[in-house]
Amino acid sequence: MSDQAAVLDSADYRTSPTARDVFENWKSQNADRLPVHDQRWDVGNPDIYHDDNWQPIFKEMRAEGPVNKVTGTPFGDYWNVTTIKAIQHVESLPKIFSSDWQNGGITILDMDIAEDEARAAANFLSMDPPEHSPRRRTVAPAFTPAEMVRLTDLVRERTCAVLDSLPIGEEFDWVQRVSIELTTGMLATIFDFPWHHRKALSFWSDWLSEIGLGQSQELSAMRMEVIMEMAGCFHKLWEQRLSAEETPDLLSRMIHSDAMNKMDPMEFMSNMALLIVGGNDTTRNTMTGIIEALDCFPEQRAKLEEDPGLIPNAVQECIRYVTPVAHMRRTAMEDYELDGQLIRKGDKVILWYISGNRDETVFDEADRLIVTRPNARRHIAFGYGIHRCIGARLAEMQLRILIEEMVARRMRVHVTGEVERLRQNFIHGFSSAKVTVERG
Ligand code: HEM
Repeated sequence: MSDQAAVLDSADYRTSPTARDVFENWKSQNADRLPVHDQRWDVGNPDIYHDDNWQPIFKEMRAEGPVNKVTGTPFGDYWNVTTIKAIQHVESLPKIFSSDWQNGGITILDMDIAEDEARAAANFLSMDPPEHSPRRRTVAPAFTPAEMVRLTDLVRERTCAVLDSLPIGEEFDWVQRVSIELTTGMLATIFDFPWHHRKALSFWSDWLSEIGLGQSQELSAMRMEVIMEMAGCFHKLWEQRLSAEETPDLLSRMIHSDAMNKMDPMEFMSNMALLIVGGNDTTRNTMTGIIEALDCFPEQRAKLEEDPGLIPNAVQECIRYVTPVAHMRRTAMEDYELDGQLIRKGDKVILWYISGNRDETVFDEADRLIVTRPNARRHIAFGYGIHRCIGARLAEMQLRILIEEMVARRMRVHVTGEVERLRQNFIHGFSSAKVTVERG
């Protein structure tokens, strides 16, 4: 990898305060003004993910009203879509169920934000055909099987270095030391981003993915400041890559492509942001979730140690079990009947992947991690249809290597206390996980 540090040397990219600290602080100061989630089926309530008690609520909905509407919530009125079949149905109709940022975007929080911030959010995940397809095609070659082979050795080398640096028998935070380190390292690799600035990538990603910030104009403005800082950094890299020959990294590939090189700078930036958030929070939280799950189900870890051939299936099962993206949102462009329910034009429709992946009509004992599960691949964690995750192969490769190297070292990671979960209904994950490592 070439060292691009010189381009950014004059800059000092901050990595604090974190979006979470700022948001938590704002919430504590505004506690009496915050809207209350007081309906059981209002699963937009971020507390149920923080307290990890969302499972029985979704189970109840799947049994009693798999497609149901809640009204008068802090996120307004919305439809809950909770089974795999219904989620896939909605995702197969992108003309009827829009992802476009101008129609409301892809999260439960309406885009009631400043025009410039909305434009910054206008990446190809938040676009419908025909705008979506050429942009997706541009980045797709960075995720082909051949590219994965090219990256495998480097990912393995970096994973081994991180695992071998871990203290044995001493408590540490897995999120910071392993999950964030490995995922930011991966992003820095695919963008050929200056290595010593890589922590800025996760800092930016956290600011971009904390959707709660959109609840206050003041916080939105702070986020805009962070976005502009990120934009400034990528602009410098853009200019540098544009004046150079095309190289295989994603940034160079995008800059030299027909679909993207004429894009306005804001749109370019929002696509970069999509790749950063897409690649960071998701894989990072799965890496932590795997540790928690294998510690909860030690007999499953024993199976992997006995037969490492089970690891590729275990990766799918872990992604199903963790489901790091809890939901995606669509907006109905016309009246449509789904599962006997009439969804009206303009309605907000929430696709709960976190529920689909526990759908008992598809997965037996869905609340258990079962590494030999025959249909683990049917999970919906990567979405479905035209927006299905483009980075799925990369994520699977990183997670497979992590598990392979832990198994090869007979590394058992034990969660020492309670993990701390995100108070968020979009990214389902962890802010910390204190662990100790033992080698068998
Ligand atoms: C375990 C890891 C991951 C999970 C669970 C995940 C999940 C998702 C989901 C749910 C979607 C939306 C699908 C839909 O609307 O149907 C998505 C889209 C996307 N993901 Fe991922 N993702 C992961 C890793 C990654 C990585 C590593 C990257 C890239 C570095 C990435 C980049 C993207 C992009 C660019 C899109 C937009 C695709 C489009 O709109 O056509 N993701 N991902």
